[in-house]
Amino acid sequence: MSEITLNIDGKVCKGTVGDTILDIARKNDVYIPTLCYLEGISAIGSCRMCVVEVEGSNKLLTSCTTPATDGMKIHTQTEKLRAYRLQILELLFAGRNHFCMFCSQSGDCELQRLAIEHGMDKVRYPYLYSDFHNDASDEDLQVDHNRCILCLRCIRVCGEKVGAHTLDLEKRGWNASVVSDLGKVLGESDTCVSCGACAQVCPTGTITIRDFVYRGRRNDCDEVVESICPLCPIGCKI
Ligand code: SF4
Ligand code: FES
Repeated sequence: MSEITLNIDGKVCKGTVGDTILDIARKNDVYIPTLCYLEGISAIGSCRMCVVEVEGSNKLLTSCTTPATDGMKIHTQTEKLRAYRLQILELLFAGRNHFCMFCSQSGDCELQRLAIEHGMDKVRYPYLYSDFHNDASDEDLQVDHNRCILCLRCIRVCGEKVGAHTLDLEKRGWNASVVSDLGKVLGESDTCVSCGACAQVCPTGTITIRDFVYRGRRNDCDEVVESICPLCPIGCKI
């Protein structure tokens, strides 16, 4: 493994060839906000919260998917980046019904936390007031598609870690939605094993574990870990 050195926000940061910019930032305790990224599953670079400025490049680069190269000089917290991230957050709030005061995940929601962190005190875009299905057909899980930010964490964990491939994406743009078994409600899925991994990795209150919601417990997964449990790739680490 050959070592590479980056300068991130003025700090000398060590990593190895093959690491992304985000990998090296995290190894060296430099904070970069993320939303679609989750350690342990593939990085897709879709939400663009993790963008950084790299000296010598005129583009904003997603740190979760951009390979680091030796000598890079990177800025993670410029005015331009904070304005860009705030705009992304406002568009996410405008796109679906993120009314935190009515959400069981309030207080433990990554979208809410990022909005607070970025000082979001209003949304400058018209709300779309989405009218997606609130799927309460399953006895263990509830899926309110009106709170989905299309980060695809649930789809990736279900396919890559659980191996059930229950979840997928249908349609495009603002009409896109997570579906189970290509169109069935979750309660009628033939492939779902009720492991709850999708709920654990969901950064918002979209997929929730019904018992946890009603007993006041929260989804609290920060990473996907290796496990010998045949169903669950997360949680207790047995
Ligand atoms: Fe992301 Fe949750 Fe929507 Fe899945 S249901 S795409 S994890 S916000
Ligand atoms: Fe990198 Fe979403 S966290 S693009």
